Amino acid sequence: MNKIYEPEFVKQLFNQMSGSYERMNYITSFGFSIRWRRQFLNKLGKSDEKLNVIDLLSGLGENWTYLRNNFPNSSFTALDFSDEMIVQSRNKGNKVFKNQLNLLCEDVLESQLESNFFDIISCAYGLKTFNSQQLDILAKEVSRILKHKGKFSFVEVSKPKNKILYSAYRIYLGKVIPVLGKLFLGNPNDYKMLWIYTENFENCNRVKEIFEKHHLKVDIESYFYSCATGIHGEKI
Ligand SMILES: C[S@@+](CC[C@H](N)C(=O)[O-])C[C@H]1O[C@@H](n2cnc3c(N)ncnc32)[C@H](O)[C@@H]1O
Repeated sequence: MNKIYEPEFVKQLFNQMSGSYERMNYITSFGFSIRWRRQFLNKLGKSDEKLNVIDLLSGLGENWTYLRNNFPNSSFTALDFSDEMIVQSRNKGNKVFKNQLNLLCEDVLESQLESNFFDIISCAYGLKTFNSQQLDILAKEVSRILKHKGKFSFVEVSKPKNKILYSAYRIYLGKVIPVLGKLFLGNPNDYKMLWIYTENFENCNRVKEIFEKHHLKVDIESYFYSCATGIHGEKI
């Protein structure tokens, strides 16, 4: 396996970035990441029922306030395998969910999550660090843990189709961001990796095909000229 997709490599990368990740996420997407986040979470709808909701690859808990607002009476679980991300998100979790968040430090590809349990799965900006084989396992897991008719929504930064936009994006993410990383955060290489993953990932087209093989009805969505793409749908 290409080293950059090995779980230990990815985990270490995010452990190292955990202190600066939220700010850089905002900068790398020109502030769009917040808008895309709201848009991809809206695909899950809203409900006052008591549902089981899980945020996969939860990072610093960037999705949590939206999820709490959209599903005010639900039970929440969040999962990430970076212990640093988990440590740094714990306070936010306690605040947003009033100490009721089930925060798990586990690998999503080999988790102990209960089968047919969740009504809602969200996942932001976590697809790019998986290769096709891992995406297949992820899709299988999503299908396993979702209830019948349970909903999911994923979003990921993508390679825009428009050539001008693509060139601008490549220079910005591949060259400018690592320099900003060095100036402000002291770790240019970690942030260079984000563009390498994005280049390899391309967009959610492949993810859609993979998810469809696992009893999942999937729609694809493009955000701002495909600078981000997402998939959403339900278990059939
Ligand atoms: C780019 S961050 C996204 C964080 C957050 N969801 C957001 O919206 O910004 C990706 C997160 O996925 C986690 N991650 C990557 N692969 C994972 C895996 N196999 N199992 C669990 N977490 C994983 C990383 O530790 C990291 O916190």
